[in-house]
Amino acid sequence: MNTEVKFEAVGVVNFDHWKEAKRFSYVPPALDSNAIELKIEVCGVCGSDIHAAAGHWGKLYTPLAVGHEIVGKITAMGDKVDKTKFHIGDRVGVGAQTDSCGDCRRCSRGLQQSCKDSVLTYMSIDKKNGFKTQGGYASHIRANSGFVFKIPENMDSAIAAPLLCGGITGFRPLMTAGVKEGTRVGIVGVGGIGHMSIQFAKALGAEVTAISRSDRKYEDAKKLGADHYIATAKEGSLDKHEESLDVIVMTTSSFSQNDIEKTLSLLMAGGRLIFITAPPADEKLILTPFTMLLNQYHVGGSCIGSPKDIEYMLKLASEKDIKPWVQRVNISEENVSDVWQKMVDGDVRYRYVFDGYDEYFK
Ligand SMILES: NC(=O)c1ccc[n+]([C@@H]2O[C@H](COP(=O)([O-])OP(=O)(O)OC[C@H]3O[C@@H](n4cnc5c(N)ncnc54)[C@H](OP(=O)(O)O)[C@@H]3O)[C@@H](O)[C@H]2O)c1
Ligand SMILES: [Zn+2]
Ligand SMILES: [Zn+2]
Repeated sequence: MNTEVKFEAVGVVNFDHWKEAKRFSYVPPALDSNAIELKIEVCGVCGSDIHAAAGHWGKLYTPLAVGHEIVGKITAMGDKVDKTKFHIGDRVGVGAQTDSCGDCRRCSRGLQQSCKDSVLTYMSIDKKNGFKTQGGYASHIRANSGFVFKIPENMDSAIAAPLLCGGITGFRPLMTAGVKEGTRVGIVGVGGIGHMSIQFAKALGAEVTAISRSDRKYEDAKKLGADHYIATAKEGSLDKHEESLDVIVMTTSSFSQNDIEKTLSLLMAGGRLIFITAPPADEKLILTPFTMLLNQYHVGGSCIGSPKDIEYMLKLASEKDIKPWVQRVNISEENVSDVWQKMVDGDVRYRYVFDGYDEYFK
């Protein structure tokens, strides 16, 4: 551990009062020879921040700064970082992962996000040095350079930030399902990830159906590019859309208000449902084998994206002008607490992004 340096952060200090965010400082891990340090400029608020801060996935440690949609400027680099690619002062981003082992079968096949020794940006213990990771509601972060991304010049930092977790998480299932011109895609959940997925699916040429619980997001979904809209709370609303989709991406934060069998019935035989939902740890997804086999449905999960996927997604977003709808808020104890409450209440259109870091962490 490097005892000289301390980073400032805001986060959970007591899970029993998790919505009362507090400022704290922590000692970062020593700067590894392959690591990059950045001074953070902005950080998006992902649904995962809420699950982690609320303890939905377990209560691993406190204090805990969440946040993994990070953009900032490079302030230090280890000896082995490629100096032709990265320079001090460059504007770069970090998503939900800061390292992986680099040589297991999964890493070798470009599935670094599923590496068993993956280091997540927060709520993860790095086996190499025992560091309890701290995310982007903080003054700085250090990450392996393989998980640091150059931000396209035409992208504002606050627009780029949500793409680094939410964007890639919604885009990757579309990519792996081979979505192209004319594919009929359903996006379930018009939240942070859902609203970006609608835009990505349209950019790939799909015919897009937005599926939300109520009709409150109808106008927004249309503005985002959705061709059709279904509000699931209305009794029987899904029935008349049976077999209307080839691919469904579920982007909800829980399955508790989704009827999964009915959602599957929207698929053509042989269709594919991919979920990125990371629900509270005690939630189960129940499937009926006969429904699956008679209809030849494929159901699977997807996890963020590999570094190569993220680079590709950023390039596509820059070329196609894909822009998350963001609400910028100055970072502070009070505002973090307030934004978390709004996320719990579903009061977000569609991604909060914290800024004002220079002022708060000076
Ligand atoms: N797999 C991965 O790699 C990965 C990466 C990042 C995030 N995630 C997970 O993805 C999920 C969504 O993240 P997000 O940032 O998009 O969150 P978000 O902005 O809170 O959006 C979630 C949406 O889910 C719907 N929803 C909320 N409560 C629900 C319930 N009880 N039952 C059914 N639907 C509900 C709402 O959509 P409507 O109002 O339109 O119904 C809401 O807007 C979270 O679980 C997050 O942890 C996974
Ligand atoms: Zn690995
Ligand atoms: Zn995330």
